[in-house]
Amino acid sequence: MCGIVGYIGNKEAYPILIKGLKRLEYRGYDSAGVALISKEHQLNVYKTKGRVSDLESFVTQKDISGNIGIAHTRWATHGEPCSINAHPHYSTSETLALIHNGIIENYAVLKEKLQAKGYLFKSSTDTEVLVQLIEYIKTTNHFDLLSAVQLALGEVIGAYAIAVLEKDHPNEIIAARKSSPLVIGIGEDEFFLASDATPIVEYTDRVVYLEDEEIAVIRRDEELKVVNLSNVETIPAVIRVKLNLGQLEKGGYPHFMLKEIFEQPGCITDCMRGRINLDKNNVVLSAVIDHKEKLLRAKRFIIVACGTSWHAALIGKHLIESFCRIPVEVEYASEFRYRDPVIDADDVVIAISQSGETADTLAAVELAKSRGAFIYGICNAIGSSIPRATHTGSYIHVGPEIGVASTKAFTGQVTVLTMLALTLAREKQTLSEPAFLAILQELGNIPAKMKEVMALNDQIAELAKIFTYAHNFIYLGRGYSYPVALEGALKLKEISYIHAEGYPAAEMKHGPIALIDAKMPVVVIATHNGLYEKVISNIQEIKARKGKVIAIVTKGDTIIRQIADCCIELPETLECLDSLLTTIPLQLLAYHIAVCKGMDVDQPRNLAKSVTVE
Ligand code: AGP
Ligand code: GLU
Repeated sequence: MCGIVGYIGNKEAYPILIKGLKRLEYRGYDSAGVALISKEHQLNVYKTKGRVSDLESFVTQKDISGNIGIAHTRWATHGEPCSINAHPHYSTSETLALIHNGIIENYAVLKEKLQAKGYLFKSSTDTEVLVQLIEYIKTTNHFDLLSAVQLALGEVIGAYAIAVLEKDHPNEIIAARKSSPLVIGIGEDEFFLASDATPIVEYTDRVVYLEDEEIAVIRRDEELKVVNLSNVETIPAVIRVKLNLGQLEKGGYPHFMLKEIFEQPGCITDCMRGRINLDKNNVVLSAVIDHKEKLLRAKRFIIVACGTSWHAALIGKHLIESFCRIPVEVEYASEFRYRDPVIDADDVVIAISQSGETADTLAAVELAKSRGAFIYGICNAIGSSIPRATHTGSYIHVGPEIGVASTKAFTGQVTVLTMLALTLAREKQTLSEPAFLAILQELGNIPAKMKEVMALNDQIAELAKIFTYAHNFIYLGRGYSYPVALEGALKLKEISYIHAEGYPAAEMKHGPIALIDAKMPVVVIATHNGLYEKVISNIQEIKARKGKVIAIVTKGDTIIRQIADCCIELPETLECLDSLLTTIPLQLLAYHIAVCKGMDVDQPRNLAKSVTVE
């Protein structure tokens, strides 16, 4: 978790660092800090509890000069969010300052050793151990900063992306990574570093993604040097990133989440661009074609993911099993990685992750790879760790997702899974040609139908006002709509802090029905597909117990209108594509309820956008 930014060049570092932190604030936002070396060679560290804006208020009247600096926005793992635990951390002599993303697992042992040698600790973080250890190695061996960092990292167990400044070396930043992302931007006579490319792209499109256990030696007026812990130098691979700055701004919307919900028609079009050809009745996911033999030979698919991506995986299971007749298992990455799962060389493991940095999903990929499985990634963040760790994959191409609650990434993931299942089904000839063509053509209609759903925004905003009183919500769906129910409940929990449960509609009578009373809102996905009649019976069961039913129905539905308390009418589509439409009113409902309750929609409490720790 957390965001890291660094700058060295001819400009004032502080404004660049603050702007960068704001772009990264979605990664963590319980405290923030900055370290700058002033022209007078002072190493100034300023940090405070709260948001980046709190840091800005905190530094007024302080010396924020200097054209070298590092900055951090934290998501606490060790030690409460407070200014002492905020990064950067000084070493005891205050000649070094360090920022860190990740967890130092053996921090307790190292801390004890250092305390025995007289080192004093101010914070309760694992991070402070690292800066003290570097100082200890540096002073006892008379090493330069690079050698001390190399040696210190050799003693560390855990995950890190770090950047270190040294008071008397205003021309150098040492940065390193293992399991946490770090990107270096190369500009004209200046360098940037950050947890992802978003703070960098407005200055340069030339970036280097550091690999595990690589150390970047970033010196003013020198070429970027990359070495490993044993000081073996590697030539950094400079790549060009294309990110539209407009995609990183709110563009007139009050929140990123609302902007990202509304972007979905365009995102899905981008996701299908060059992959679907409706005139030629063709869909081609190049990764599937390139690795056709492996994928066709697969006896089983295992999909690993977390959170919203896991919900997309459940829809993927449905799609792949019904289109391709291959068994699919869906696993929480965090369970899979520690379960000693049975995996063999005929298995294909699909890893789904918006950020491409989720620690559990990355570890699941590494585990499956070590057991010989073929790994296919479905990610959004270009160049992130998971796509680099997989054998092949498909990007969802929905643009940067900033709101902590995932929205457009979910529909992008489902779209890629649909195209993957269709491409494979055609190769395997497991779908009849008319069925294939009908799905393909309808997939092409989805962006326009999504736009129709967006027109319901005002209706849903009104509806939200009625339900802000609720302390609990139930979401029900069957078949393809069951994962949508889970996703709707997750959205509401995340941003409005209302307890919500998603259930397969027919399971309700096996327990949760006991919760239904006149105060319980129940969102039921009841479109004209699949088990429509059965879902009507489930709605009757809720109404018989006076529950409040919000039904998501197909336009023109007259039956449910008579039973439910309110209906949200969606355009008709095929059952297998239904989730691409039914998810949107649930995203909007969660959004508007959270806004009515005055919640911080884009940065809900306790959460962070990418979970790069266990
Ligand atoms: C979704 O709204 C969440 N914030 C969260 O569940 C997220 O989907 C999960 O952490 C997985 O992230 P990833 O897709 O970046 O791997
Ligand atoms: N483990 C460190 C801390 O708790 C870093 C957490 C982070 O990545 O934000 O301060």
